[in-house]
Amino acid sequence: MDTKNVKKTKRTNTAKVAAKSSAFNVNLSKLKIKSMDDYEAIHQKALEDPAKFWGERAKSLLHWFKPWEKTLEWDFAKPHVEWFTGGKTNASYNCLDRHIDGPRRNKVALIWQGDPEDDVRIWTYQMLYDRVCRFASALKNLGVRKGDRVVIYLPMIPEMVVSMLACSRIGAVHVLVFAGFSASSAQSRIQDCEAKVVITSDGMFRAGRVMPLKANIDEALKDCPSVRRVIVVNRTNMPTAMKERRDIWWRDVMSDRSLNARLPAVQMDAEDLLFILYTSGSTGKPKGVMHTTGGYLTYAAHTTQLVFDTREEDVHWCTADIGWITGHTYGVYGPLLLGGTTMMFEGGPRWPDPDRFWHIIEKYRVNTFYTAPTAIRLLIRDGDEWLEKHDRSSLRILGSVGEPIDAKTWNWYRDTVGDGKIPVVDTWWQTESGGILVSPIPYVTPLKPGSASLPLPGIDVEVLKEDGKPAKVDEEGHLVVKNPWPGMLRGVFGDKSKFKENYFSRFSGFYLSGDGVKKDQDGYLWLQGRLDDVINVSGHRFSTAEMEAAFNAHPAVAESSVVGMPHSVKGEAIYAFIHLKEEEKPTDAMRSDLRKWVRKEIGPIATPEYIQFVESLPKTRSGKIMRRVLRKIVSGNIEDLGDLTTLVDVSVVEALVTEHELLTGRSSLS
Ligand code: WTA
Repeated sequence: MDTKNVKKTKRTNTAKVAAKSSAFNVNLSKLKIKSMDDYEAIHQKALEDPAKFWGERAKSLLHWFKPWEKTLEWDFAKPHVEWFTGGKTNASYNCLDRHIDGPRRNKVALIWQGDPEDDVRIWTYQMLYDRVCRFASALKNLGVRKGDRVVIYLPMIPEMVVSMLACSRIGAVHVLVFAGFSASSAQSRIQDCEAKVVITSDGMFRAGRVMPLKANIDEALKDCPSVRRVIVVNRTNMPTAMKERRDIWWRDVMSDRSLNARLPAVQMDAEDLLFILYTSGSTGKPKGVMHTTGGYLTYAAHTTQLVFDTREEDVHWCTADIGWITGHTYGVYGPLLLGGTTMMFEGGPRWPDPDRFWHIIEKYRVNTFYTAPTAIRLLIRDGDEWLEKHDRSSLRILGSVGEPIDAKTWNWYRDTVGDGKIPVVDTWWQTESGGILVSPIPYVTPLKPGSASLPLPGIDVEVLKEDGKPAKVDEEGHLVVKNPWPGMLRGVFGDKSKFKENYFSRFSGFYLSGDGVKKDQDGYLWLQGRLDDVINVSGHRFSTAEMEAAFNAHPAVAESSVVGMPHSVKGEAIYAFIHLKEEEKPTDAMRSDLRKWVRKEIGPIATPEYIQFVESLPKTRSGKIMRRVLRKIVSGNIEDLGDLTTLVDVSVVEALVTEHELLTGRSSLS
């Protein structure tokens, strides 16, 4: 077991910091885990009496307008989960109002670093509060009511945070759509949630380039009758078409002097919807994961405190785009609920130079840094000299999320970025879980490079084999959760049956994560990647079915099959097997056309690494494509293809292997 960092580092100044924190009048009481004995004891207590444990947490972390009547009601067999029933609270109130009545009023809430180095905005809680109230008041004037859905399709600019908190202030449901998604992906999400308003920007900056964004919304809205208004942030000054009576500039909305800069927050039921976030599952259609107010907020604040050990003077930087769940929980809600200072960065890690991250850490003296293994792997390649130029002594905790982090990357992160002195917290969770479920407690849990370690207190995970029996030590199985936690999803928007079907039917009475995992003799969890048809590319989830549907919609394609291929930087890359219609030719031009097609259908992040044209796909007698075989071929693992007797034509496999080797320039046996 690697306990190097645990031994080496002492917790300094804890008493001083605690004294300082209590000077603030909002004292969000902290759960103290100082040793593994504390961890064990609290974990046990939380499992024995979840209502008591989570009730106390919810009470100390949030302001409630009205206390709840029942802490927890649940039955995974149905499934049915409710937390803090009858309680009244509000997300925007908890992130803003309660901080501004005291010294936090002038504390920095948000540091925004633009893609251009000199573009910086620093907002205090008061400044953020004013903007949120005014924008919330504007949304009301535009006819947005409690329960209405508002799609936010923005690059990483502060208006994203203002929009989210303005929605929650008036009880509207925010639905973020990552700005890297295409017009068509945005359209299907807008249609599915029947958004009333869309918030976007003229364009966006990325690595020094300017790219249009509003144009995608114009394209998407050709078939979205629910949308009444589009609010457009002026980010780039690029020429932008505005549709009369539908489109309105953000600056015009906000310049209305009659907006209420003290608009009171609406009292929401704990179980009222706070947001919907679409994510890919094993079916072709993205699922609108629903998160509710009281439970999600409690869990966001609780896990931020536990995993990032939030201190009053910290600068917390989560590099994830706010369009993803990580950005929601650890870029916005978690830090703001705790009255922290959160960093937001518009650009990417390697522009103008590969030291941009390290430069930002030094510039703002970042204390807690949270990023994805794919970014770390990318930066390893550029060499340590980029990092060594910068003072990183402010760092106290390094977090990782989104995909399994291999030991080599983990070690570099800790030893090079963190000079071997600070812990790496490998945090495992999902859009559906709302917050972190498995992670070390920094400076407490002994670390093993490559393992997300142990479940957080009160989270009861189990490893189940295909037959539903618990897996043995070091045996791979499905990661399932036995009990509810406040941050868990409450359903799939517009589709009641999907909630049960996707998460609670494979093993009755358990929440199914879709991930494979092994538990070692110390109970440490080693995540193995998805067990369903989801590909995780650079920490972004794609469903193979969704990608196949996109390929199949191309006029030249007869049939397709998409699988994940191991990739040294991205974790997994997209590999597509394409069977063209008889009259079509498998040329390079066709390949590039298909690439463009998928980028347009889903977005640039879904660009396939390889497209292999095939004469036929390996099918069983019942007509099912044997993906297992395709997965093995692309991972170069052809010695053990498993049982092929159910295939109609085994010779297909041989042809596929040969073609694969020609295409990728490698021998699968090497
Ligand atoms: C994967 C992101 C291994 C996993 C928060 C999960 C991880 C999916 C880790 C969720 C980790 C996330 N180790 N795998 N630390 N964190 N994953 O919904 O497959 O975008 O099911 O949420 O990412 O992705 P999502």
